[in-house]
Amino acid sequence: MTDRPDGGDGGALSALLHETRRFEPPADFAARANARPGIYEEAAADPEAWWARQAEHLTWDHHWDRVLDWEEPSARWFAGGRLNAAYNCVDRHVEAGHGGRVAFHWVGEPEGDIRTITYADLQAMVCRAANALVELGVEAGDRVMIYLPMIPEAVVAMLACARLGAPHSVVFGGFSAEALAARTLDADARVAITADGGYRRGATSALKPNLDEALERCPAVRSVLAVRRTGQEVAWKEGRDVWWHDVVDRQSDRHEAASFDAEHPLYLMYTSGTTAAPKGILHTTGGYLVHTATTHRLVFDIKPDEDVYWTAADIGWVTGHSYIVYGPLANGATSVLYEGTPDAGGRDRWWRIIEEYKVSILYTAPTTIRTLMKWGEDLPAAHDLTSLRLLGSVGEPINPEAWMWYRRHVGGDRCPIVDTWWQTETGGILIAPLPGITATKPGAAMAALPGVSVDVVDGDGNPVGNGEGGYLVVDRPWPGMLRGIWGDPERYRQTYWSRFPGRYFAGDGAKKDEDGDLWLLGRVDDVMNISGHRISTTEVEHALVSHPQVAEAAVVGASDPTTGQGIVAFVTVKGDAAQSDEEGAALVVALRETVASAIGPIAKPRQILLTPELPKTRSGKIMRRLLRDVAEHRELGDVTTLVDPTVVNMIDGKMQSAETAGED
Ligand code: WT7
Repeated sequence: MTDRPDGGDGGALSALLHETRRFEPPADFAARANARPGIYEEAAADPEAWWARQAEHLTWDHHWDRVLDWEEPSARWFAGGRLNAAYNCVDRHVEAGHGGRVAFHWVGEPEGDIRTITYADLQAMVCRAANALVELGVEAGDRVMIYLPMIPEAVVAMLACARLGAPHSVVFGGFSAEALAARTLDADARVAITADGGYRRGATSALKPNLDEALERCPAVRSVLAVRRTGQEVAWKEGRDVWWHDVVDRQSDRHEAASFDAEHPLYLMYTSGTTAAPKGILHTTGGYLVHTATTHRLVFDIKPDEDVYWTAADIGWVTGHSYIVYGPLANGATSVLYEGTPDAGGRDRWWRIIEEYKVSILYTAPTTIRTLMKWGEDLPAAHDLTSLRLLGSVGEPINPEAWMWYRRHVGGDRCPIVDTWWQTETGGILIAPLPGITATKPGAAMAALPGVSVDVVDGDGNPVGNGEGGYLVVDRPWPGMLRGIWGDPERYRQTYWSRFPGRYFAGDGAKKDEDGDLWLLGRVDDVMNISGHRISTTEVEHALVSHPQVAEAAVVGASDPTTGQGIVAFVTVKGDAAQSDEEGAALVVALRETVASAIGPIAKPRQILLTPELPKTRSGKIMRRLLRDVAEHRELGDVTTLVDPTVVNMIDGKMQSAETAGED
């Protein structure tokens, strides 16, 4: 682990911490806000009782006996309680007379390809899909892989699994066959749901072909349910593959939802850790649903009969799980579900969607905000965005420039901004301002939510004072917390509960400013954050050394003006491989492809530098800290522990000439 609680940014963050602008909650917003004054005190007085009151917003088939059983690191929230997550997200709203309310305004990537799905429609769709899965032999506890584009069937598939108590494991459509195979094997799934393909900026991408390739390594998968989306030709394996429209459409639209224990597994979501193997983060039913619904109600101030809510993220990531599917649906909200990229059909696509559907709450990532910024403020200015009343940010630290641009050019200087810190592991938001209550500062996530307790500690676990930085920890269990790493309890304990005894170690650096408000500073481990997506350096190194010509590889995340971090790889080759410039250039191209096929296009290095040697300590450890200095064009740090200090200067020189030659 690289110890850099300052975020290792070389000064930009200290500038950030001199940020003095403050934005008070607008009075009209505060007057109607879901979060009421006194909420922090009320929750702090008895956090468990407070969470129990939040849990009363859901419909339980059997009330819990105890709010929390905690024996570190195992938590059981709402122990003894029973409920069905899909019933809570869909049926109960229909039963309460809201069947006609729109659950999703679905906007496909091709212009004009739209669907409006009410809660009653969703109920029928989920019941049919659940009946189809039963016909395919899915039982409670079975894991189901989902590899779909952002189409309504993705939500329906997740809820159908939840309805049956079959944990889903959604894999982002941008992941490669190899990545999909590794996850399918680890989850030991028997059934997979996919589509022929999806749309990406007008072109069609292949999904089923990737799944077919993955399943060559996963013989245990006996059924594939495929949605026809693009109509492209796909291979077909008789006896294993069935079309969604053949099997789902003919099912009954009624299905009795069984109730499950609050701790019944709801889903697995694979995420990158510090080793090459991704971790299957396990979330369970009751606590997760309480956490996502509560945070969605308070942080996004959702008014289900007034708002049009839009989380512009993919369902293949946890943001989509918690704030497109479970949180908003548990609250009976109306959402926009958009299939495409921000520039599909023109760089004003988002602004057109907001204008057309009168979106009132928008939730997105800083990397996207910076991209929209690059495209210019004239585009949002040309559209009526006055329906917006609240803006959210997630995935990485938001720089004050992007925050201010978002506030001014998207939010018309009137919308509060909530910068929300959380992780795949936390299940839902833990740190964010509460709109209507918290004054905000551009770039700060501010404070732990009610019922949540976090701290910033030094290397020995002592809380730091105001104005100081350290490691972010969570010091009490919370309902949405992960319940483990699939199949690896020891890794769970080791990763999160061993660094600071009694506290959850998030892997992030943070600072408390002079007022004690929190600023998140990025990862302190070997995990990179590329456009808000987690990719481990080890995972990319592993892919690079799988190439026959590569001897060794070291990967670092270097700061990047748009994507937050960009991947920079330093590679040594075997024997006499890639001696000429042409061979070197060809190898670099081949290596980028190797990484794309091992992990996915998002993991392609921004730059690959071939070098005869890597800087190593006497104990043989590669000094990534120095390589990060090189990649970020900083003065090189301490080189005295290196076996051969000239190596890093040589790499630095190569890097500079590569940049001036305009390589890559
Ligand atoms: C990591 C978690 C949470 C859903 C999307 C990412 C970084 C997340 C913020 C924020 C600063 C943030 C952290 C965290 N992160 N939100 N508001 N400010 N950093 O989920 O893939 O599990 O990544 O994203 O470094 O540890 P994830």
